[in-house]
Amino acid sequence: MTERTQFAWEGARPDLTGKVVVVIGGSGGVGEGVVRTLVTDGATVVATGRDLSRLADLVANISTVGGGGRLVTEVLDAAGDGLDDEAARLAERYGPFDGVVISVASWGEQGRKPALSLTDAEWDDLIAGNLTSVFRLFRAFVPHTKKSGIVLQLNGMSADLAFPGGAGIALSAAATKSLTRTIAAELGSRGPRVYQVVLGVVRTRARRAAGIDDLGWLDGEEIGAHIAGLVAATSPLVGIALQYHVEKATGPVAGSVRF
Ligand SMILES: NC(=O)c1ccc[n+]([C@@H]2O[C@H](COP(=O)([O-])OP(=O)(O)OC[C@H]3O[C@@H](n4cnc5c(N)ncnc54)[C@H](OP(=O)(O)O)[C@@H]3O)[C@@H](O)[C@H]2O)c1
Repeated sequence: MTERTQFAWEGARPDLTGKVVVVIGGSGGVGEGVVRTLVTDGATVVATGRDLSRLADLVANISTVGGGGRLVTEVLDAAGDGLDDEAARLAERYGPFDGVVISVASWGEQGRKPALSLTDAEWDDLIAGNLTSVFRLFRAFVPHTKKSGIVLQLNGMSADLAFPGGAGIALSAAATKSLTRTIAAELGSRGPRVYQVVLGVVRTRARRAAGIDDLGWLDGEEIGAHIAGLVAATSPLVGIALQYHVEKATGPVAGSVRF
């Protein structure tokens, strides 16, 4: 069995044996590390993406992971007409879920571009890919998540900061941060617990392949370790809806909003 890495900020690592966690965007750069940790910790992980070859790469990249967990992959499009039916089908097959992680991002085709040069079509595309998608995923998956479970959205620092050249990304980040906090407040103690985790820069496989790396950046695996603690309800941040995981050394910290 693979040894469970202990991170500087962590207490004892939880055992997720018997837990089912869906990682939407599990084939993405951040998703890969999250999936690796959750499988290592014993969970059954349902990792989704739209692109079959990216899902196959995920399976290949974590094939050496030990632990008692297992990985299954499923194609899922947050923009699809049948999203609610797909969520119900996944729940029937694997659920109800102990955790749902929303880790989707869409950079669009326009590249870095000043806000006022965006066309209507580019604007609509960015909002659809980064904001409407997150709303639809919460709506589809919350009903299939256990009352004791979690639904968590991973977000970026542009939720709070100006992002020149990335207006559509930044405003969607700010809006999904708002959305998540509202859903958390609306569900309250009825559950599932809803979290917004704002991340700093992450060391992804794609960045490393492009020669862009910094040992001070977060690893997807430590983001996964934080999520594991929330699923197991062993994290000291279990009652905090808004969280920041920006500094490697500090680990995750509370934002200002509590349930
Ligand atoms: N990378 C970073 O440094 C960083 C830093 C801070 C925060 N974050 C946050 O981490 C999250 C994930 O980012 P990432 O870097 O991992 O992005 P990524 O590598 O582009 O991966 C995005 C994932 O989302 C999936 N996806 C995109 N649109 C979708 C849709 N409409 N329906 C279903 N799945 C969809 C993609 O699947 P396909 O490829 O198959 O379409 C892929 O699995 C985002 O919320 C981002 O804000 C990332």
